[in-house]
Amino acid sequence: MSHNWTYHNPVDIRFGGEAIATLADCIGASRHALVTYDEPFFSGLCDQLTKTAHAPEIVINDVLPNPDCRQLGAQTARLWSLPLEVEMIVAIGGGSVIDTAKVLAAGRSGFDALMAEVRKDRAPEHLSPPPLVACPTTAGTGSEVTCWATIWDGVEAAKYSLAHPDLYPRTAIVDPALMVGKSADLTRATGLDALSHALESIWNKNANPVSARHAVFAAQTILRDLPRLLSAPGDMSLRSSMAEATLSAGLAFSNTKTAIAHNISYPLTLRHGVAHGIACSFTLPTILRSLAPLGGFRDAALTEIFGTDIIAGADQLTACLRRLGVGQRFADHGIDRAEAEEIIDAAFHGQRGKNFIGTRDALVAAAQVDGLI
Ligand SMILES: NC(=O)c1ccc[n+]([C@@H]2O[C@H](COP(=O)([O-])OP(=O)(O)OC[C@H]3O[C@@H](n4cnc5c(N)ncnc54)[C@H](O)[C@@H]3O)[C@@H](O)[C@H]2O)c1
Ligand SMILES: [Fe+2]
Repeated sequence: MSHNWTYHNPVDIRFGGEAIATLADCIGASRHALVTYDEPFFSGLCDQLTKTAHAPEIVINDVLPNPDCRQLGAQTARLWSLPLEVEMIVAIGGGSVIDTAKVLAAGRSGFDALMAEVRKDRAPEHLSPPPLVACPTTAGTGSEVTCWATIWDGVEAAKYSLAHPDLYPRTAIVDPALMVGKSADLTRATGLDALSHALESIWNKNANPVSARHAVFAAQTILRDLPRLLSAPGDMSLRSSMAEATLSAGLAFSNTKTAIAHNISYPLTLRHGVAHGIACSFTLPTILRSLAPLGGFRDAALTEIFGTDIIAGADQLTACLRRLGVGQRFADHGIDRAEAEEIIDAAFHGQRGKNFIGTRDALVAAAQVDGLI
């Protein structure tokens, strides 16, 4: 039986070892803001850019990992109080930088009003954001091809999603050369975040055959090349392969959003400081183990990645995460059984949890079998 589906992604993608050289061209004569981190590598990149493109009106470089709403409020006020409004926002950095750029763009008509909508889980209206150019330096969140941003509230221990179709970047410049300086921990966490995006887009109610194809390529490539890259961090062809795979994972979940692994992850990051990529990936083998046959293109996609025996595939995934040094139990991340059960229950009630195609009971049963909780 055939079913109807749609796939959409409007981002103009420029990929390759010298893609960043096209940034000046993208900016053209636009008055722009540059968003990045306050670190020597990034200041150096920005200085180089300023030699070829005209200078930004403002540099916002106080971006910290997991952007917090208080900081975002202050940054938005700084940007939109300039005498002449910027016409473009350029982000050079990882997911935290690209997400910050999206919030800045969306905050044009006031950050507090925007946050009020976001806190109610409503899509904000009348945004008219300036165009975004996203240059990811991690591989990666895929934020360069999605229309949403994660906003963290450290004080209230809450996580929100800003999502709006006008927040797709106009252009994504994916240059693996920008990713060579990542530490082993950052390479591992960001690569596993993308593996989670790929798999979460498959066991997802919103999946479609095109998102599944991107996800299969992404998962196969990450499982093959992430361990190799960690042994050979300077290998440009492996950096490039991971950049392409994480971009594909982004294209996959740009149409589906994430699912249960991500919803389980947020309290781990908020309450226990676990890196996003680790928090959203250590549960993947258990989730895979918990799935009843899904049928259709979803099963075909999982079979392409893990073979026909999904339980054996889950075992391989467990072994792969173990080799990468990722703790497979909640306890490895400082979470006791009672809290783990509470987190799983809450995750099924959240928005992302509802995208998941499996069930709570099956997941809890699998978690007991493989010692996750
Ligand atoms: N919008 C989306 O679609 C989406 C998807 C997944 C995750 N996210 C969000 O993205 C954030 C995580 O982003 P991230 O994992 O890319 O990391 P990040 O942007 O938080 O950066 C983490 C650290 O890595 C360093 N770093 C980044 N690139 C580097 C490089 N090339 N060389 C050396 N150091 C580098 C930075 O200095 C920073 O301190 C989280 O807030 C998460 O919620 C968003
Ligand atoms: Fe993620």
